[in-house]
Amino acid sequence: MSDLKPITGQTKLFGIFGHPVAHTLSPFMHNAAFDAVGLPYRYVPFEVPPDRLEGAVKGILPLGIRGVNVTIPHKEAILPFLDQVDEEAKMIGAVNTVEVISGRLIGHNTDGRGFLESLFEMKVALSGKRVILLGAGGAARAVAAVLAQQSIAEMVIVARTAARGKALADRLAAISPGLKVSLWGADWGSPLPADPDRSTLLINTTPLGMKQEDPLPFPIHLIDSRWSVADLIYRPAETALLAAAKRAGAQVIPGLGMLLHQGVLAFEIWTGQKAPLSVMRQALQNALSFQDFRSR
Ligand SMILES: NC(=O)c1ccc[n+]([C@@H]2O[C@H](COP(=O)([O-])OP(=O)(O)OC[C@H]3O[C@@H](n4cnc5c(N)ncnc54)[C@H](OP(=O)(O)O)[C@@H]3O)[C@@H](O)[C@H]2O)c1
Repeated sequence: MSDLKPITGQTKLFGIFGHPVAHTLSPFMHNAAFDAVGLPYRYVPFEVPPDRLEGAVKGILPLGIRGVNVTIPHKEAILPFLDQVDEEAKMIGAVNTVEVISGRLIGHNTDGRGFLESLFEMKVALSGKRVILLGAGGAARAVAAVLAQQSIAEMVIVARTAARGKALADRLAAISPGLKVSLWGADWGSPLPADPDRSTLLINTTPLGMKQEDPLPFPIHLIDSRWSVADLIYRPAETALLAAAKRAGAQVIPGLGMLLHQGVLAFEIWTGQKAPLSVMRQALQNALSFQDFRSR
């Protein structure tokens, strides 16, 4: 852990609203980034229960808070309390970053583009790909919305709750009317159609894999060496799904990349400066190893 610069009368505050929020890694990467570029800013976690969200948002301006991230369970609930929501956040239907400009609260969503950046960093080609999306919750919406705007061939949404899958499919039809979207049950009752011509990008957006005893979110015998397999989970760094994908010879994309890049984009929105990417990545990796060590 690095030594942070002292808090003074000039310090400006940023933070994250969540419930629970104690597990967040964002303070590590943002505080390291502020220090690295010499800004007198600090980023802290705010434990905000759902019935206090409106009050917390109303407190941002009077307290002089310069910006916040928003995490579970507030990403959708915060929408009515903001002065403006940008096009991307509207398209996703959720906000993960709030910017304060001239006394107004502006909502953004950097989750989808953060995920996309993590794919680009790993040189995952998207053109013509079949995407299999496991889950249809908040993170799935962000990821699917940005992917639907890329040149992918098809998206298969695998949802435990059919209505949630259908709602996501409808949203994608509005974003990208030409995109082929199909729905699949998470019970794998019928076999997934084979795809001999195209490689596949499989993305786990469910929480399955966070706990050691979790079942696998996908029948791993279907994974082909031409596939790329991404997991949004970053703790553990390598989920059972990613380990199985590696054994099958597939390319793997761990969730830490999305966490990093959504943070990089938020930093750039707040500061107007290029984010110190390697400092933020190192801070996240250090924080993860530190927390792993403490939980042993
Ligand atoms: N790397 C990053 O930066 C990043 C960013 C955001 C989220 N995440 C991770 O992404 C995951 C999802 O977050 P979220 O905000 O999207 O949560 P969410 O809104 O609760 O959505 C979770 C989705 O997973 C499905 N699901 C949950 N348990 C399941 C099970 N046992 N079997 C099949 N499907 C199941 C849910 O289905 P139902 O609709 O039926 O409940 C829902 O579609 C979490 O692990 C989170 O930590 C990572």
